[in-house]
Amino acid sequence: MRARFAVIPAAGLGTRFYPWTKAVPKELLPIVDVPALQLVMDEAIAAGATHIVLVSHVSKTPLETYVAPSQAVIDKVRASGRGELADRLALIGNDVKVTVVYQDAPLGLGHAVGCARNVVGNEPFMLLLPDEVMGDASMLTALADSCERTGTGAVGLMRVPMEEVSAYGVVTAAPGAPADGPYDIVGVVEKPAQKDAPSNLIIIGRYVLTADVFDEINKIVPQANGELYLTDALLAQSNVSPLTGILNTTARWDTGTPMGWLKAVVDNALLRADVATDFRAWLTQRLGN
Ligand code: G1P
Repeated sequence: MRARFAVIPAAGLGTRFYPWTKAVPKELLPIVDVPALQLVMDEAIAAGATHIVLVSHVSKTPLETYVAPSQAVIDKVRASGRGELADRLALIGNDVKVTVVYQDAPLGLGHAVGCARNVVGNEPFMLLLPDEVMGDASMLTALADSCERTGTGAVGLMRVPMEEVSAYGVVTAAPGAPADGPYDIVGVVEKPAQKDAPSNLIIIGRYVLTADVFDEINKIVPQANGELYLTDALLAQSNVSPLTGILNTTARWDTGTPMGWLKAVVDNALLRADVATDFRAWLTQRLGN
């Protein structure tokens, strides 16, 4: 079965973006003029999702406003000559269903994913962490293809310099895999110290998982910080069924920090046909070369 649900955890309070996130959810940070949430939903839809499950917090009502259909906005965007964007907006809440569920306490990513269980039921599902914005849907599509083919979970991976591993889930791949994967994941540890990290292969925020991960989430215990780690559930799951790791080959921006977001905005402005020419000219002059 192919994953048709896409779970997007968006309940975090975004403290790294204070004071901006005092009033506006970080998922609505604009990448030029399109919210990161829209780009992440576009990616899920391009990979085949027809039902988005947004795991939100009751205080983040602007997220609900954003996913509510608005024909007036779609019409304005279309009239401004941006028909392709209007088409993407028109899908949300119409052809693509959106269900909002709530995570009422900051109990970690494992808990957030568990909050989607009642909607997802027994089906495989995509999981997209909206802090990360991808260049296209190829990573997620490869994960969905893998899950559909094998009936088991798949996670997106990337190699990073060893100094960066402690910010991520880090995997151990079974020996013998081709250098560029896919890998059979036999171990995974959340945010290890650099010296304890098993590799430099990190999990990026794209997964396609089978519903039995919900049972594993129910069994794991909170870590010292009170959070349920999705990583612990994935490790438990990998002990009973294969978990495949696939290397990302497209662009990826981690917009979870102001610096990462700034890079995403500048890169995407330079990639946007309607913005790039003027922006490049200004930037070149501004930087004096
Ligand atoms: C989460 C996961 C981690 C993964 C990362 C990808 O961490 O827990 O395993 O590597 O996303 O961005 P977070 O960024 O929520 O701390």
